[in-house]
Amino acid sequence: MAFDLVLFGGTGDLVWRKLMPALFQAFRHGTLPAGGRIIGVGRDDLSAEAYRELIRTRFDKVELAKRPSVEEFARFAALLEFVRMDLSRPDDYTRLGAALAERTADTVVMYMATAPTLFTTICEQLAAAGLNTPQTRVVLEKPLGHDLASNRAINDTVRRVFTERQVFRIDHYLGKPAVQNLFALRFGNALFEPLWRREHIANIQITMAEELGVEKRGAFYETTGALRDMVQNHALQLLCAIGMEPPINSHADAIRDEKLKVLRSLKPWTAHTLAQDVIRGQYSAGTVAGATVPGYRDELGVASHSPTETFVALRTEISNWRWAGVPFFIRTGKRLAGRDAHIVVNFRPTPHAIFNSQLGMANRLVINLQPRDGLELHLLAQGQENRRHAQTLAPVQLDLDFDKRFGSERVGAYERLLLDVIDGRLNLFVRSDEQEEAWRWVEPILNHWAADPQGPRPYAAGTWGPSAASAMIARDGFCWAEEA
Ligand code: BG6
Repeated sequence: MAFDLVLFGGTGDLVWRKLMPALFQAFRHGTLPAGGRIIGVGRDDLSAEAYRELIRTRFDKVELAKRPSVEEFARFAALLEFVRMDLSRPDDYTRLGAALAERTADTVVMYMATAPTLFTTICEQLAAAGLNTPQTRVVLEKPLGHDLASNRAINDTVRRVFTERQVFRIDHYLGKPAVQNLFALRFGNALFEPLWRREHIANIQITMAEELGVEKRGAFYETTGALRDMVQNHALQLLCAIGMEPPINSHADAIRDEKLKVLRSLKPWTAHTLAQDVIRGQYSAGTVAGATVPGYRDELGVASHSPTETFVALRTEISNWRWAGVPFFIRTGKRLAGRDAHIVVNFRPTPHAIFNSQLGMANRLVINLQPRDGLELHLLAQGQENRRHAQTLAPVQLDLDFDKRFGSERVGAYERLLLDVIDGRLNLFVRSDEQEEAWRWVEPILNHWAADPQGPRPYAAGTWGPSAASAMIARDGFCWAEEA
C-alpha cells in the first residue's frame, strides 16, 4: 500500500526523538508498508539529502535497540523527503500539493507534530489547497488546547475539514504494550472480570513517575504543567482502560463509547474535594540518580516565581454501579525518585483471618508499564522463614515479565500507533467527545488553582513528591505502593 506521511514540524523534537526512530523500527521489522514516502516539513531550506543527514546525526542521540548500519540507514533514508514551508503561507501548501501529486498514494497522513496553536491554521490551509481528500488522515498530538473552550475550537475546525473517521488524536500511552495487555487481561480472560468491581477492590492507584525534569521544554511546560501534560490525557486514559465496561466488540467506537461513559461518571468536584483531594507540587533542587539537579524555577525558560505544577496527586471516584465508593488515586510528577509507571489494583482483605499474616504487599495486582512491562500478582503463602509458627503467612508474587516472555524488541508505542494510522485503525486513538469530557473534568481544578494564592507545594527532586500526597491517600486508610 503506497502511503505518504507528511510530518509538520519535521525538524522538531518529537520527530527526531520519537517519530523517526519509531518509523525506522517499523522499517527494520518489515511492518512499514512498502512504497511509502516520509515527507518532513519545516521552515529551513533543506534538500532531501540534507534532511536525511540531519536525521542520521540525530539518530546517534536516541535510544534504539540496535544501531543501524550505514547501509541499513541508507535504505530507510531513501524514503525521506523534505518540503520547506511557512505554515501560514497559502502558496506553500500549493508546493506541498505539488510534491504529493508526483504520484498517487492510497493514503496520505498529515501528522501535526507542531505547537497546537498551529493546528487550526494547518487544517484550514490544507482545505483551501484541496488537500483534504478522502484518502487523507490527520494526526493530532496532545495537548489539544489548554482548556475546554480551546479544545472545542480546534475540534470544530478539524470537523469542518475532515470527518471524525479521518482524525487520529494520539495519546501515546494507549500505544504502550502494557496498556494493550490490560485490555487483553480484562477482556480476553474470564478470571479477573468477576472480581473487577467494588465488592472485591479496595482502591486503585495509577502512578506515572519520571526522573527527568522539563529538559529544554521549560517555556512550553510553563504554559502547560503536569495536570494538562499528563493527567488530562494519559492518566485519564489509563483510568478508562481500568474502569470501563466490557465493550460489545473490539471496534473503535465500541471501545470509545465505553471510555466516554467512564469519563462522564467521574465524580464532580466540590469546593471540599478540590481543597482536600488534589495536591500540586513543584520540584526544588535535589539529587536524582546520583546527580545534583536544579529546581524547576532555575530551569531554562521558567519564571523565577513560577506557579506551574510539576507534580499532581489526586483522588477521584467513578460514580456507577461497578465502582461507587472505590477511590482511584492518580499521581504523576517530574524529578521523582524513579522512572516508574504502574497501576496497582488493591483487593479487599479476607473477611475473616485464620492465619497470622501482615497483609502489607499481598492481595494486589500490579500492572507495570515501565521501565518493565508486565504483571505481578501479590499473594500470601506459607513462608518458610518462621519454622516454629507454621501458620504465619508471607507475601509472595507471581511475576509475568512481558519482555522476557515476548522478547525485548517489541513494538513500541509510537511504532504501533503510526502503523495503525497508516492502516486506518482507530481503536487506540481518542475521540473528540472523550477529549472534551476530560477537559470538562480537569477545568474546575485549573480554576481552583488559578484562584488559590498558595501555589504548588515544593518537593526535593529525587523524592516521591510533597508529603501531602501521602497524607491524602492515608485519609482513606491506604498508602502508595512504595510505602507499603
Ligand atoms: C508526554 C509529556 O506526553 O509524555 C512529557 O508531554 C512526558 O512531559 C512524556 O515526559 C512521558 O512519556 P513516557 O512514555 O516517557 O512515560
